[in-house]
Amino acid sequence: MIPHEYIEELTRRTDITELIGSYVQLKRKGRLYGGLCPFHSEKSPSFYVYPDTQSFYCFGCGAGGDAITFTKKINSIDYPEAVKLLAARAGMPEPEEDDKTGRMRSRILSMNKEAARFFHACLNSTVEEARQARAYWRRRGLDDKTIVRFGLGYAPNDGQALYQFLRDKGYNQQELDASGLFKRSQSGRIYCLFWKRVMTPIFDLRGNIIAFGGRVLDDSKPKYVNSPETLVYHKSDTVFALQIAKKSASRRFVLCEGYMDVISMQQAGIDTAVCACGTALTPDQVKLISQYAEEVILSYDSDEAGQKATLRSLELFRNSPVKVGVLQIPGAKDPDEYIKKYGAERFKALLDGVGNALDFRLKRLRDKYDLSQDGQRLEYIKEAVDMLAERSNPTEQEVYAGRLAEETNVSKTAILTQLETAVKRAGYKRRQERSRARLKEGEMNQINVPYSMGGAEALGVASAQQRLLAAILREPGYLDLVRNQLPAEKFLLPQQRELYQAMIQCREQGIELSLATLRAYVSEEALNELSALAAKYSDVNCTPDDIRLYLDRIARGTPVAKKAAEMSNDQLEQYLQSMREKKQGNLPPEE
Ligand code: UTP
Ligand code: MN
Repeated sequence: MIPHEYIEELTRRTDITELIGSYVQLKRKGRLYGGLCPFHSEKSPSFYVYPDTQSFYCFGCGAGGDAITFTKKINSIDYPEAVKLLAARAGMPEPEEDDKTGRMRSRILSMNKEAARFFHACLNSTVEEARQARAYWRRRGLDDKTIVRFGLGYAPNDGQALYQFLRDKGYNQQELDASGLFKRSQSGRIYCLFWKRVMTPIFDLRGNIIAFGGRVLDDSKPKYVNSPETLVYHKSDTVFALQIAKKSASRRFVLCEGYMDVISMQQAGIDTAVCACGTALTPDQVKLISQYAEEVILSYDSDEAGQKATLRSLELFRNSPVKVGVLQIPGAKDPDEYIKKYGAERFKALLDGVGNALDFRLKRLRDKYDLSQDGQRLEYIKEAVDMLAERSNPTEQEVYAGRLAEETNVSKTAILTQLETAVKRAGYKRRQERSRARLKEGEMNQINVPYSMGGAEALGVASAQQRLLAAILREPGYLDLVRNQLPAEKFLLPQQRELYQAMIQCREQGIELSLATLRAYVSEEALNELSALAAKYSDVNCTPDDIRLYLDRIARGTPVAKKAAEMSNDQLEQYLQSMREKKQGNLPPEE
């Protein structure tokens, strides 16, 4: 983390027009500058630089951001390198890591390591509760090697012991508070978040211990207690056991639901078993897994919740390059139980015969119907055919039509005919959706508000919200005016809500608001979005009256948005036509 004061100073000393002007020939056009985009090849300029917001945006390829983004992209370097380069240009000394944060981070990591040692020692101690904990792991089928390999342990009944232990090691109160290991009772006593639980440490990719999951030894609730988010632990981008899986010779990962499944599989020799940490799978975890795996086998619990989670995860992997298979576990509730009941070899055989995603979806569908009844059989065929039309290629269609025919006793020819119609219908639907999306895009500057949010009316509201974000970036003072009237929850689009919240956070911490400082709070994609907005609304006026107008638009529009969801296609088109007539210019000016 580079301190925000440093970034503020760097931003003050860097002029984006001058910076970009040294790479791209820029021509002044009113308040902005245009040129040929350096990030894609083009003959007429669609690349613009906005001194007001110190941002750039290309209407051709969508590249956008601030001076740091530009430096990163143009030199293909990462964030710290880009900051160094700009610093050198601005005559500033190199940034030093924010000492305080850096130090706290390493203190938490070393505290976690000490805590893991403590829990492990407790597991091996001679007291009765330790014996029970050892018996527990044993009952779960884990051998000593696995216990050591995963650094498993036991948090004793005495909730104060770890606290004393770490105090004695010299950790101060502020550090203990930041570790996430402790809670305060109402009377102010401090005790460990984990007590009377068997403990599983969670490692990062470099092998640091960043958190813990603790399980009860019986059936009491909650089954697991997990570390909260800390400076070193971010649940949504942590994958349990990935530090082991990434070193495996195999690029075929097995993704399951629980720590115990992973540990059992690992003990059985499947070293690519991983899971999410106490939450449903997130897009960040999918990205992370996709960096290491070529194939992922979803191996969730066989109960309804597990099957639903499988469908959700399939969707998350849909746009990743990873090949996905789905493992069904017959006769056991989860992989851990299966391995215990039938042995590792049979589990591995199961993995080798794994079905693909389509198999899984079709099977789920089939389970809904009683195929001995004609009506239900026809219904099943119809749904299966629709699914194949949407989600498979011609070869797969041929194969699955054959299977479907066998299953239902309907001729393959009949099914193929039905499939042909469904494919056409699916194509038509896709085209319609696309043209509808284009219609919205063209008219409303690519605000992709899901139609279900309230159609055209929501577009109006979202547009006003976008204008507000752009206005605040240009004139941060407006934030105070807007904040009092517009709570973040009112933002329709998540990314914009995130940007707005980040702006408020900056302001509250007295940090100068700019793309460069917002970077500490939001993703590079969100910054890109904000530069796109700054570009699109660069020549829209923003007086305090305009700001009030936007706020008013949002206040009025939100309730109506629901109703507009019911508009027919024709009504929507008419509405957009009327918007078109009132349209204000918000593309960059012509030469
Ligand atoms: P499971 O209930 O399937 O747990 O929850 P498990 O890991 O297989 O544990 P055993 O076999 O019952 O001992 C799957 C995952 O969901 C999270 C944990 O990450 C767990 O591994 N979870 C579950 C919680 O965070 N809290 C809970 O109370 C339960
Ligand atoms: Mn389990």
